[in-house]
Amino acid sequence: MNLPPEALTAKGAAQARVRVQAPRPYDVLIAPGLLEGLGEFLREMGLLVPHRRLFLAHDAGLPAEIVETAAVSLHAAGGRLSRSAVEAGESAKTMAGAERLLVEMAASRHERRDCVVALGGGIVGDVAGFAAAIYRRGVPIVQCPTTLLAMVDAAVGGKTAVNLAVEGSLKKNLIGAFHQPRLVIADVSVLRTLPDRQFRCGLAECIKHGMIGVEFGEPALLEWIEAAAPALLARDEAKLVELVSRNVALKAAVVGLDEREEAEDGGRALLNLGHTFGHAVETVEGAIGEGTRAPGIHHGEAVALGLIAATRCAEESGACPRELKLTERVRALIQRCGLPRSAAGLPSDEELLARMAHDKKVMGGILRLVLPTGPGRAALFADPPRQAVLAGLQAIRAGGAAGC
Ligand SMILES: NC(=O)c1ccc[n+]([C@@H]2O[C@H](COP(=O)([O-])OP(=O)(O)OC[C@H]3O[C@@H](n4cnc5c(N)ncnc54)[C@H](O)[C@@H]3O)[C@@H](O)[C@H]2O)c1
Repeated sequence: MNLPPEALTAKGAAQARVRVQAPRPYDVLIAPGLLEGLGEFLREMGLLVPHRRLFLAHDAGLPAEIVETAAVSLHAAGGRLSRSAVEAGESAKTMAGAERLLVEMAASRHERRDCVVALGGGIVGDVAGFAAAIYRRGVPIVQCPTTLLAMVDAAVGGKTAVNLAVEGSLKKNLIGAFHQPRLVIADVSVLRTLPDRQFRCGLAECIKHGMIGVEFGEPALLEWIEAAAPALLARDEAKLVELVSRNVALKAAVVGLDEREEAEDGGRALLNLGHTFGHAVETVEGAIGEGTRAPGIHHGEAVALGLIAATRCAEESGACPRELKLTERVRALIQRCGLPRSAAGLPSDEELLARMAHDKKVMGGILRLVLPTGPGRAALFADPPRQAVLAGLQAIRAGGAAGC
């Protein structure tokens, strides 16, 4: 269902709408102040009719005024609202966390056509999305992402998941379902309160998108981020609308081509650029990223390091011509965005290679890496040369990046 453009937001504010061509197409609305009209949007889409129930699952760590803005708007539009606060931690993104939501939904007599609203970052979106996917075999969900990462990635595309503890270790996103939202509302004004480190982690995913933009209809995204970085870091709302809408357009193109990540070499798999190297460093206890004091590398920081490693690996293996100087370019952008270019305290190459071998892109024991082939371009490579992978790892070791 289409929403009239005048319903979007205050006059004069930057705004955008991106259509996701899933089997049931839906809109992603992007503008400052959208949460104030949340109830109206749901009403216009027929997701909220008088006396129908609504279930709002929100991040327990959100500033109260964000939650209240959404709740007041849903209430004013006539929704019979039940609310549940979800702790935003990987340890809460579990079957038990989803079960708690399911029990609360059942206790509130949530019915088949009643809508769930997820308000929060990727954790809340994933666990509430999963609960919505399995409650009564699927009820409608509206995603209202409140982190940059969730706006540009997690809330769009219909992947939902929880983690599973297996023999003492937490396997991320092992249990899940594809369940596309009916609508995504990205109110960029909520990014004002997002901690800097979380914001920069979201930027890392945007840089990754820029590095595959040519493949998915956003050929100038990398250059655009390079130019807009200072305004983005200052959280200029018009620039944020453009950043989110360009990234959502790219994600929508990927989802339109490969909704369920079934394509062998391209499609959704290219979104894993930087992730195989990144996963190897993300879980290293005691590792410290450049510019951070406390040990521990966040996911987005690991992705930033992974992008540098993958680019260096691509140059060494011949996948990407050296004369393009892409590693230098990526390193410079990552630094501009306040993300680490290297990490101290990484284990031996053998240990990191072993960690990479556990990545989901490994098939039949053969390492498969998404590597850049030029600015905005990437492809999947099976069994890359060992010395190229080692050069990638060397490029992100603190003190080891010289000559990249
Ligand atoms: N489904 C997908 O396609 C997909 C894609 C990428 C990532 N993910 C998942 O997303 C999760 C990470 O999500 P995330 O990075 O959004 O982190 P998150 O959900 O953990 O949120 C990060 C922190 O920011 C706080 N926060 C959120 N919004 C805020 C705001 N506006 N102001 C102040 N504080 C705010 C939260 O309380 C939390 O402490 C991971 O579990 C990952 O697996 C899913």
